[in-house]
Amino acid sequence: MTSTLLHTHLLSWPVDWTAVFNREAPLLIEIGFGGGHFLIDLAQRRPLANVLGVEISLPALDKAQRKVQTAALTNVRVLQSDARYLLQVLCAPAAIDEVYINFPDPWPKARQLHRRLIDVDFLHLLATRLKPGGLLDIATDHADYAVAITEALETTPYFDSRLATTFVTEDAARLRTKYEQIGLDEGRICHYYKWVRNQTAAPNDYPTPKEFPMPHVVLHTPLDLDAIQARYGRMRSSDQDRHVSFMELFRAHEGEALFVETYISEAPVAQRLGIVIRQREPGNYVISLHDLGFPRPTAGVQLAIAALARWLVSLHDEAEILHHNIPSDMLEVDVTHAA
Ligand SMILES: C[S@@+](CC[C@H](N)C(=O)[O-])C[C@H]1O[C@@H](n2cnc3c(N)ncnc32)[C@H](O)[C@@H]1O
Repeated sequence: MTSTLLHTHLLSWPVDWTAVFNREAPLLIEIGFGGGHFLIDLAQRRPLANVLGVEISLPALDKAQRKVQTAALTNVRVLQSDARYLLQVLCAPAAIDEVYINFPDPWPKARQLHRRLIDVDFLHLLATRLKPGGLLDIATDHADYAVAITEALETTPYFDSRLATTFVTEDAARLRTKYEQIGLDEGRICHYYKWVRNQTAAPNDYPTPKEFPMPHVVLHTPLDLDAIQARYGRMRSSDQDRHVSFMELFRAHEGEALFVETYISEAPVAQRLGIVIRQREPGNYVISLHDLGFPRPTAGVQLAIAALARWLVSLHDEAEILHHNIPSDMLEVDVTHAA
C-alpha cells in the first residue's frame, strides 16, 4: 500500500507530483492543516484531485495520517515542510491548481510580525507556483492579520478576488476548522478570501535550488590530523546567498578522519550536516560530505567544502589543493573565526 506520509529527504527538487500520486490530476494543497478535518473533507469532496497537506507540526502529521487511513483515502499525501520550502523547493512553476490556508498563525506581537506567512513576497512566490486560473483561499479570525492580508492581496498584481469584495465574513458552505470554531466561539469575526491567479506573468525570482555532483577537494598539507585538530576553532564563511557556520569538530573513533559539524543556510533551504576531512595517506586529504542525515549537495555545501579547504591550506606554506570538482571562484572564499 502507498504511504500517506511523504519523506522530504526522498523527494526530488522539484517533486514530480504525478509520480508521487501515481496519476495525473489537479494538485490541491492545504498549508498548515492542523487537525486535518478540512484536508480530509477536501479529499473526500474532490476524489479526482491529488490533495497534499503540509504541516510543520509532527503530531498534526501523525494524526492526519491516521485519519486518512481510517477514511481509506488514496488521493491524499501529507508532508512535514515549511510552506515556503514546499513552494520554492518542491513545487515547479505552475505546478499547483489550488491552495488553501486556514487560520495561519497570527503572530500578534510587534516583534513576531516578520514570522507571518502571508505578505506580498509570499504571494509573489505563490503566484509563480500556481497555474493561471488556480485558486487561493485564505481564512483568518485575527483582525490585524486580516488587515495585512487584505492589503497584500490588493497590492499584488497576480491575483483577483472571485467575490465582488476582497473578502466576506460568512461562509456557511465550508467545513469549519478547529481554529475557526475557536474564533467564532470567542466572538471574533472571520475573514474569508477567495482569490484566483490571474494571467499577469509573475517573474520567477524564486528559483528551485540546484543539486550538484557530490563535491570534494583533495589537498596536500604536511600537517597531520592532530595538528589540524589543534588549530581548529569555530568559523564562518558566506557569499551573497549562503552562510556557513563550522561548529564542533569530532575525531573519528577509528580511521584517520575529522568530522566537522556544519550549518548551512541558503534560504529557503537550511541544512545541518557533517563535512569530513579524511586522510588518504600521510599528507594527503580529501574533504567531502558525510552522508549522515541525507544531506543535499547544494551550492552551500560546495561553499562549505571550499571554505574548509581554504582554511586548511592557510595553515601551512607548503599546503596546496591538488584537485576538486567545485567552482574555482568558491575556493577564494573568506573564512573568519567566530568570536
Ligand atoms: C492556527 S493553526 C490552524 C490549523 C488549522 N488550519 C485550523 O484552521 O484549525 C496554524 C497551523 O499552521 C501550521 N504552520 C505554521 N506555520 C507553518 C508553515 N510555515 N508551514 C506549514 N505549516 C505551518 C502550524 O503548525 C499550525 O498547525
